[in-house]
Amino acid sequence: MHKITDIIARETSDSRGRPTVSVTVHADEHEGTFDVPSGASTGSLEACELRDSDGRVSRAIDNVNTLIKREIAGMDVHDQSQIDAKIIALDGTVNKSKLGGNATIGVSIAVAKAAAKAEGMEPFEYLRQLADIKPSRKTPYLYLNYINGGKHAKSPIAFQEHMLVPDTNSVTEALEMAEVLEKALYEIVAKKYGAETAAEVGDEGGYVLPEGTYETPFELSAQAIHDSGYDGKCFIAADVAASSFFSEGAYVMQGERYSADDLREIYLSLIKKFSILSIEDPFFEESFEDFAKLQKQTDVRIVGDDLTVTNKAMLTRAIGTCSVRAIIIKPNQIGTLSETLDTMHEARSRDVDCIVSHRSGETNDDFIADLAFAFGCFGLKTGSLRKPERVIKYKRLEKISSLAE
Ligand code: PGA
Ligand code: ZN
Repeated sequence: MHKITDIIARETSDSRGRPTVSVTVHADEHEGTFDVPSGASTGSLEACELRDSDGRVSRAIDNVNTLIKREIAGMDVHDQSQIDAKIIALDGTVNKSKLGGNATIGVSIAVAKAAAKAEGMEPFEYLRQLADIKPSRKTPYLYLNYINGGKHAKSPIAFQEHMLVPDTNSVTEALEMAEVLEKALYEIVAKKYGAETAAEVGDEGGYVLPEGTYETPFELSAQAIHDSGYDGKCFIAADVAASSFFSEGAYVMQGERYSADDLREIYLSLIKKFSILSIEDPFFEESFEDFAKLQKQTDVRIVGDDLTVTNKAMLTRAIGTCSVRAIIIKPNQIGTLSETLDTMHEARSRDVDCIVSHRSGETNDDFIADLAFAFGCFGLKTGSLRKPERVIKYKRLEKISSLAE
């Protein structure tokens, strides 16, 4: 047993330069730190990110250093579920709005990291003691986001993320392929739009296209795959984040209004033309039926993110309506590690795949790589190789997958 002896929260910055919470939990001579990320295209049912009126996070930090510390100091750092239950009860709201989801997830994951240290284990090994979750794959697919749009870039492209997914079980090979693909895409973008455009980097490390339609990023991605000699060896995936361009009952792309049926036809035609592995949030976040209609017409994984917000109740609803075959897992969407693991467990017991994801405002923390690897998740989605805070997570995955061999 190792008692929690101290908890210290302080302010740090995320990759967009915005203030965020860093929490260190001490358990005797061991400690664990988690730096909390922050989303831009957030689902409305996500755990509340507590911010002061000037954008700082001092109230969330105070909540950790006073209320949460008082509640859980002295507890055994290995009692993850009891610690999280205490935090949830102390908060008492449905969306962590009293303490702040950024405060609660900071503590919750820092507790697990400190506990792993106390056991002399890697976080992924320790995580396996906390939950029994059916694996999807030996190592997760790398979801490398190479063309940014929507809320993540100043671009007319409405879909938020266009990803390249190397089809291999080896993380090292996937990263080698990612570098080749990156170079090929650079050449394509520079030739089509100029070197200045090719030098621009979106929030998650992708290229930012100054013009084009929803189809352009798919064409460029397919071209990059072809130029790299990876035809048949690399998938394309998309995160549409459709809530971000849904307005007054229609989807508005470049001034044109599209119905859900129009959009479904668009997805089905993209699926016919390109080698697509998954499509995330293809419709507005409350459109369980539209998700289901599309999922019924394709074998491609339809993925819930804003739809399901790592929330077990929302996932159960999405499973009941046959809306998704995969879900995005973002621990800060729900606010504690135990609830995250519960949602993952539920997903896998119903044969829904989990894709663990970063946020668009990230930190240098690499815990999500351990989370994805520990449970053999379907994917790890953490941007491109053009931004260091994303590379850190892929490199961590490479390291732990080789450790475990
Ligand atoms: P966010 O984007 O972190 O801005 O929510 C990531 C995603 O939607 O998957
Ligand atoms: Zn998303």
